Amino acid sequence: MIFNRLAIVTGGAKGIGLEIALTLAKHGAHVAIIDRSAEDLDTAVKEVEKHGVKVLGLVADATKRDQVERAVSDVIKEFNEVDILVNNVGAYPRKPFIEMTEEFWREMIDINLTSMFLFTKAVVPYMIKRMYGRIINISSITGLYHGVPGLVYYGAAKAGVVGFTKCLAAELAPYKITVNAIAPGPILTPGVKSIWSPEDIRIQELVNPLKRFGLPRDVANVVVFLASDYAEFITGQLIVVDGGLTFVNPRQVVKEILALREKGEL
Ligand SMILES: NC(=O)c1ccc[n+]([C@@H]2O[C@H](COP(=O)([O-])OP(=O)(O)OC[C@H]3O[C@@H](n4cnc5c(N)ncnc54)[C@H](O)[C@@H]3O)[C@@H](O)[C@H]2O)c1
Repeated sequence: MIFNRLAIVTGGAKGIGLEIALTLAKHGAHVAIIDRSAEDLDTAVKEVEKHGVKVLGLVADATKRDQVERAVSDVIKEFNEVDILVNNVGAYPRKPFIEMTEEFWREMIDINLTSMFLFTKAVVPYMIKRMYGRIINISSITGLYHGVPGLVYYGAAKAGVVGFTKCLAAELAPYKITVNAIAPGPILTPGVKSIWSPEDIRIQELVNPLKRFGLPRDVANVVVFLASDYAEFITGQLIVVDGGLTFVNPRQVVKEILALREKGEL
């Protein structure tokens, strides 16, 4: 269903983005991976190529308009078209609101929200020309369902991603371009492993109704669905991928954790 399509994945050199690139390739899509980390990008390209599709790795900072435009024009030179855009770039260092400078705020809003504007702006004219396109934006449950200390900018940006998605979906529907968003719960990636302690990870597994941590493939599988013809009548939607975390009953979770403590299992 996405065989021979061309997908751009931003921030695709590691974590969720890399898994998205791998899963799209596994289903036959050619992939352009764009990331600011040249080192991770090299390894990522080699891994994705193993699926036998064409892979282009481009180093670019997704917050810089000239670099984004150059990267998209390189993709067009190589493939002539873009069918799928996955706006995945994001960053989430914790910073208490009272310590946050305006400079940090702007930098983080640029990474988590403006990057999406820049890539979409560069890609959409090509999609309009062909009256076809799938845009998939990675949001988060933070800012929409969960308030998290130290992530005020992130909550603002990720809720912004949903507003961006819905309004853009309305505007691009006449061109048969669908625009959807995915809100993952915590997903085990290098980014998360670098800030979560092993105990936090274990507790997160316990509080989740499905009793495990989210994995990059959980998000990547939904991306492939939204990119495929199976999702041709879905646009302007937000799909939460969190194992049920956002509807969990806190009383039930506390009871389960206390019981485990009593048995000495936590
Ligand atoms: N991991 C989670 O628990 C989780 C949960 C909800 C949403 N998300 C979202 O999923 C997306 C991916 O998260 P992840 O955990 O895989 O992150 P990660 O830190 O593991 O990987 C992010 C990738 O994006 C690249 N990147 C960052 N800033 C960039 C920039 N300015 N230009 C180009 N590339 C840039 C990095 O080099 C890296 O390869 C983000 O949008 C994040 O907010 C993650």
